[in-house]
Amino acid sequence: MTSPNRSQTLTFLRRGQPVTLHHVPPQRTLLEVLREDLALTATKEGCGEGDCGACTVVLGEAVDGQLQYRAINSCIRLAHSVDGMAVFTAEDIGSTPTASSPANGLHPAQEAMVRCHGSQCGFCTPGFVMSLFGMYQNSQGGHHISREQAQADLSGNLCRCTGYRPILDAAQQMGSLPLPAGCAVDVAATLAALQRLRGPKKKALEPKPYLRPTRLHTLLQLRASHPKAQLVAGCTDVGLWVTKLHQRFEQVLDLTATRELRRVETYPHHIAIGAAVSLTEAYAALVLERPQLKTFAQRFAGLPVRNSGTLGGNVANGSPIGDSMPLLIALGANVVLMRWDQKRGAPAHRELRLEDLYTGYRSNVMRPDEILAWVKVPRPAKPAAHAPTLPPQAPAAAGLEGAAFDCMRVYKISKRFDDDISAVCLAIQIRVQDGRVAQASIGVGGVAATPVRARQLEAALLGQTWNADTVQQGMAALRAEFQPISDMRASATYRRTVLGNLLQRFWLESQGAVAINLEDMGTTTLEALA
Ligand code: FAD
Ligand code: FES
Ligand code: FES
Repeated sequence: MTSPNRSQTLTFLRRGQPVTLHHVPPQRTLLEVLREDLALTATKEGCGEGDCGACTVVLGEAVDGQLQYRAINSCIRLAHSVDGMAVFTAEDIGSTPTASSPANGLHPAQEAMVRCHGSQCGFCTPGFVMSLFGMYQNSQGGHHISREQAQADLSGNLCRCTGYRPILDAAQQMGSLPLPAGCAVDVAATLAALQRLRGPKKKALEPKPYLRPTRLHTLLQLRASHPKAQLVAGCTDVGLWVTKLHQRFEQVLDLTATRELRRVETYPHHIAIGAAVSLTEAYAALVLERPQLKTFAQRFAGLPVRNSGTLGGNVANGSPIGDSMPLLIALGANVVLMRWDQKRGAPAHRELRLEDLYTGYRSNVMRPDEILAWVKVPRPAKPAAHAPTLPPQAPAAAGLEGAAFDCMRVYKISKRFDDDISAVCLAIQIRVQDGRVAQASIGVGGVAATPVRARQLEAALLGQTWNADTVQQGMAALRAEFQPISDMRASATYRRTVLGNLLQRFWLESQGAVAINLEDMGTTTLEALA
């Protein structure tokens, strides 16, 4: 039993009304609060680790005066992190009968599932419905949802009986169904109620078991004064320590409400992504700069994980098979670490190259009072007017042998296409000038105790003519550079072999060869082949 001073009050909005719970321990999950404390059992627990989506709920948050909706996994989300937000579960989106309106109306997300026979086992259905609801709210009533978007937005929901077709049909049909009275979210009323929930300002520096400061200087001061508090961002890694390793925290310091860190800032030569920016938003900013990253961005976990997790959390966690780091290393990203300087009574910061953050397996150079505040990513060099970034056309085909061109690709190899962790990840950025490799920046995951830069491969390529012979030598250098381990994801031999093959693929793509990808074939073609 948790002592009252190790627990605190939590308030969120449900069906437009505040729900207040007292004595909620810091590590209690949102799913536990819903099912056990509030007896709202529509939301299911499947895996308890963010993989299956049975526990999906939608959060509503006031952002710049708008109501922002995000489907998330309630099983690994700490309950206190939704304090002051609106929570929608499968029990909340239909209309309930009243004396004046006796019909029990299903929300279009639910009705479409019924009509398309999308509910097979029933257990995963509330999770699918809530992902559909999130899609509905974010697309102004479910209109014009393409098959591709439906697939991407449902990538975090697992149907074990593989009945995805009727569920995807439901996603595309819900926009054409009427919205019964009582099902529409009253946005103005919800925003007003959220504003009221904020209430009188609480003292942010008060010792509490769950600290969620809204200002950067407060976050840094709390980090300095509570070095033992478990720092969390989106909790998509830490949540599993709670549900699978049964860790208990005396105190949690949550940085996701820190306003300054919720921004993506654009400068002439780089973008700066704050540590509280979700993976969804961070990757959207990266894709805006480099459209070729779109597929890779969608292959990072599933949407509910990307909606909670942060880029800062991915980098700080430092898993050797984390996806963002090889990419960020190849792009030449830096990290900004911040702390509170007690002597000066002001924030202090230092900046380092991302690969220099790591000292070993999940260890890094961060001091106990430091946080990772920003990830700074260089913007792509503007191509000269006569030299487009490749592909679509090969330099030879385009008559550009003498010109400079850039090529940037990232490849993730995993057993499943959606919602899976990499066995190997390779990110390459090169600049070819007058036919020779003038710059090479290469990041690799899944081959060492940390995400790494492929320095030997970079050295093997630099200054060489960019041709098939150089690539063959590069493949040998890359395969020799690392000693990966064999584990459940892949054998060491597979990892080494595939790494070299990916470099060859990069070479072919740099010459304008069009990669054959499952995603290019589209669901219609795949269904026709099935
Ligand atoms: P948290 O879980 O909150 O924190 C992780 C660690 O980082 C903690 O030690 C925390 O103290 C520390 N930390 C967080 N933010 C900071 C900061 N600003 N400064 C200092 N320390 C900090 N990862 C991949 O790379 N690719 C995948 O495809 C992928 N798929 C996943 C699928 C599932 C189902 C799940 C559950 C996870 C997956 N992950 C994947 C792992 C996870 O989602 C990412 O690592 C995520 O980016 C972690 O961010 P977070 O904000 O949730 O971090
Ligand atoms: Fe499976 Fe939450 S229970 S993702
Ligand atoms: Fe639930 Fe397929 S419908 S697992």
